[in-house]
Amino acid sequence: MGRAADASQSEQAVASGRPQLDVQLRAVTKRFGSFTAVNAIDLEVERGQFLTLLGPSGCGKTTTLRMIGGFENADEGSILIDGQPIDTGPKRTRMVFQSYALFPHMTVVQNVAFGLRMERLPKDRIDAGVTAILAKLGLSDHASKFPRQMSGGQQQRVALARALVTQPKVLLLDEPLGALDLKMRKRMQGELKQLQRDVGITFIYVTHDQEEAMNLSDKIVVMDHGNIVQVGTPEEIYRNPATAYVADFIGATNLLPATLLPVVGGQARVRTVLGEFPARLSRPTIAAPGDAVSVAIRPEVIRIGADAAAMPNRQRGVLVEKSFLGSVTRAGIQIADGSGADSFVVLVDFPGTLLYSPGDAVDIGWKTEDALVLARDQRLQTEEALK
Ligand SMILES: Nc1ncnc2c1ncn2[C@@H]1O[C@H](COP(=O)(O)OP(=O)(O)O)[C@@H](O)[C@H]1O
Ligand SMILES: [Mg+2]
Repeated sequence: MGRAADASQSEQAVASGRPQLDVQLRAVTKRFGSFTAVNAIDLEVERGQFLTLLGPSGCGKTTTLRMIGGFENADEGSILIDGQPIDTGPKRTRMVFQSYALFPHMTVVQNVAFGLRMERLPKDRIDAGVTAILAKLGLSDHASKFPRQMSGGQQQRVALARALVTQPKVLLLDEPLGALDLKMRKRMQGELKQLQRDVGITFIYVTHDQEEAMNLSDKIVVMDHGNIVQVGTPEEIYRNPATAYVADFIGATNLLPATLLPVVGGQARVRTVLGEFPARLSRPTIAAPGDAVSVAIRPEVIRIGADAAAMPNRQRGVLVEKSFLGSVTRAGIQIADGSGADSFVVLVDFPGTLLYSPGDAVDIGWKTEDALVLARDQRLQTEEALK
């Protein structure tokens, strides 16, 4: 029934104008003993998408990927690949690991041909498939080398070739660039993105590196303690983080503890260590007046010096640190609250050379829409209580 059912699912999706889904997780839970590593997650991955599971170490990324790959069984829920349960029919996913996992005693050609040999394909089909994929990955000149004779980047290309030669529906990649140095990692990011467009299949990628996720992905799934906290494009997640946790994890941000004040004339207001000011609610129902919230202001939306004068929200502070980051100079501006009891260092990114020095008094300012009110993260609250 496999093929017929495939076709009808795809045809139905096309007819209804819905995106075709390659992978669906429904209320998937995985426990190790009494510990819940993945907590009832729902996920839909559109065909041909580069989707990244992003989150800190231990949040359940690998476990989720291993369940999609069929290496681990879910305790609850269901996983469908192209509309069919994962255990139906031939395997439709392949996995690439950080450690490459190549056979050390086999040449590049033998490593790449291995999967097709296991499928008992005729020799000419195997040769043609291997030759084509080695060419695509720029490995043709390395065909008779052994893994130990190659660099990390080259070995990872062999691992990619070995996975792709079997023409999986979905490629699963678990921190595949994690063992490479920064320069090679950046280069391989570019190659991976190009490769994914070339082969056109769905990639599900795992990383704890937010910059890598932003660079590679059509869609990012932010995970935290076995839960999905947000799904969106890199831009959506950066501009409209669902929680303070996401805002803090993706890019640099100034995260101010705050109390939400009653809305005045349709405008939300907050009380913070920087005083009271208007701000934008990330979602209309994010919190009620009196609730503890967080206010996120990105360093690059804050103006400094003369540029601050035109901004509706202004503060005066003292420059306490300054670092040149290449495309921007990042300054730390210490703002003391009125009582003198507390102060807060606001990070500001200035595009160019900043002429102020430590100790200088400077003005900063921002637009109301750039101060985003987010639900307070439970852990941030706990950290504050411990201070
Ligand atoms: N086989 C296992 N036995 C017990 N605990 C595990 C096992 N695999 C993973 N875990 C735990 O599940 C949590 C999630 O692990 P993992 O999915 O590997 O996280 P990530 O890939 O996001 O770093 C971690 O706390 C980890 O220690
Ligand atoms: Mg992992």
